[in-house]
Amino acid sequence: MTDVSSKGPGPGDDRPVLTNRQGHPIYDNQNQRTIGARGPATLENYHFLEKISHFDRERIPERVVHARGTTSYGFFEAYGSWGDEPIARYTRARLFQEAGKRTDVAVRFSTVIGGRDSSECARDPRGFAVKFYTEDGNWDLVGNDLAVFFIRDAVKFPDVIHALKPDPVTFRQDPNRIFDFMSQTPESLHMLVNLFSPRGIPAGYRHMQGFGVNTYRWVNAEGETRLVKYHWMPKQGVRSMTAADAARIQANDLGHATRDLREAIDRGEYPEWELLVQMMSDDEHPELDFDPLDDTKVWPEDVFPAKPVGRMVLDRNVSNQFAENEQISFGTGVLVDGLDFSDDKMLVGRTFSYSDTQRYRVGPNYLQLPVNQAKNAQVRTNQRDGLMTYHVDTGGENPHVNYEPSITGGLREAEYPTHDEQGPEIVGRITRKRIPRTDDYTQPGQRYLLMEEWERDDLVENLTTMLSECVRPIQERMVWHLLLAEDDLGLRVGEGLGITPDDVKHLEPLAGQDLTEEDQARLANLG
Ligand code: HEM
Repeated sequence: MTDVSSKGPGPGDDRPVLTNRQGHPIYDNQNQRTIGARGPATLENYHFLEKISHFDRERIPERVVHARGTTSYGFFEAYGSWGDEPIARYTRARLFQEAGKRTDVAVRFSTVIGGRDSSECARDPRGFAVKFYTEDGNWDLVGNDLAVFFIRDAVKFPDVIHALKPDPVTFRQDPNRIFDFMSQTPESLHMLVNLFSPRGIPAGYRHMQGFGVNTYRWVNAEGETRLVKYHWMPKQGVRSMTAADAARIQANDLGHATRDLREAIDRGEYPEWELLVQMMSDDEHPELDFDPLDDTKVWPEDVFPAKPVGRMVLDRNVSNQFAENEQISFGTGVLVDGLDFSDDKMLVGRTFSYSDTQRYRVGPNYLQLPVNQAKNAQVRTNQRDGLMTYHVDTGGENPHVNYEPSITGGLREAEYPTHDEQGPEIVGRITRKRIPRTDDYTQPGQRYLLMEEWERDDLVENLTTMLSECVRPIQERMVWHLLLAEDDLGLRVGEGLGITPDDVKHLEPLAGQDLTEEDQARLANLG
């Protein structure tokens, strides 16, 4: 038998030579170093030990949510105005100012609950995270494909995710655990009505909407603030799948959405989305029956029209999944001047969570990785050292000065663009209270009524199928909620489960539930 290691490069083989990471050429990549052809092996076998021990560390912890995803690159192009109205009137963020101005972007689409190799056909929200590499530093808009979320306070996030993830004993996703939590969390109803409709399984990443979900602020040059919500609309149109479509695709391909996106970009069919913004004055809006800081609500578009601010095109695939998709790190704290947070209690909690998990998952210097760097802005910090420091981002005149203030060089603070603080003054008592105006039923009911008939049928079937695996008390409480949202929805799901309004009328409201007068009237009429 020929010993391939002894072959060496043949004449005319001008491929580059394999080395180790010290730059040493590898003469034999087929055989370990041993004493005699039959061993034993020696311990100073540097190439073998480096190769195996690096392999042993090839995986980093996967994202605790949104583990399966895919990243692509492209650009965002601003429109600069709404008709005659310059966008500068509302935000001073430089990326939005001039018509035609382009900003590089990286976008990661994902599913939420499954692991890195799970099916992309799952009924699950889809992540829609956009990193804008602006001249003022990075801006991350970390959204989902559905406009609302399950909960409105970040303190409940680990609970909702635990309920949706596999059972810790059996490692199976379990409808009883999911609906146990949801039935005790009526704010989840609006999300459930979306998730169990055909929208719960997008046909692919090119055919889904994106929503910032949480409420943010825009700030103009005068320091005036407004509340905003962001929406992405696909030029390719919105397409979804039924559970039967999904089962068919999943039987052959767990990664159809990633494949579809990559192949479309390879073919030069660049997907495109328009970014729209809804806006309202920065106050509590007592005239509304919901709170503008509640992410379980949408803002009615007839009152707060969604206005286009630019378009995004994806035209390049990543060249390495690990470096550019696994290690890319988004966060809701990553904002540029002219864009700000609101007091949305989910947003505040998210903002801590993202960079916290990335320091753990990727490492403390995750922002030095090429895909995460603010590549179109100057980065100059006094942060030093730590695991995997890639370079020193000094920039001061004196590299000895890694502190501030100093009179011997080093970095100085920037001037405030206008005001040091912006937005309304807040006076209050420290407390732990849910926001008023929770109204958990009106919008899910309206959403149901807005659906086309086939979508309603699909929603009823999906809910009934999953709830039929749950124990009776959970089924009854879910039917109770659905009846409060919309009679027809509650009656139809109830019928599928063999539960009538009479069967659930004895149920009391949940502890602390904030029912509107309309809810109470519905409750009185159950049965
Ligand atoms: C990913 C936390 C709510 C969208 C993540 C990750 C964490 C997290 C820890 C993993 C990040 C990583 O490893 O890099 C939270 C918390 C939430 C919350 C604590 C609520 C308090 C939401 C909501 C949305 C959302 C409401 C949608 C608007 C995303 C997306 C990703 C993600 C798109 C994936 C980002 C990527 O592709 O790398 N979230 N999340 N999350 N989250 Fe959230």
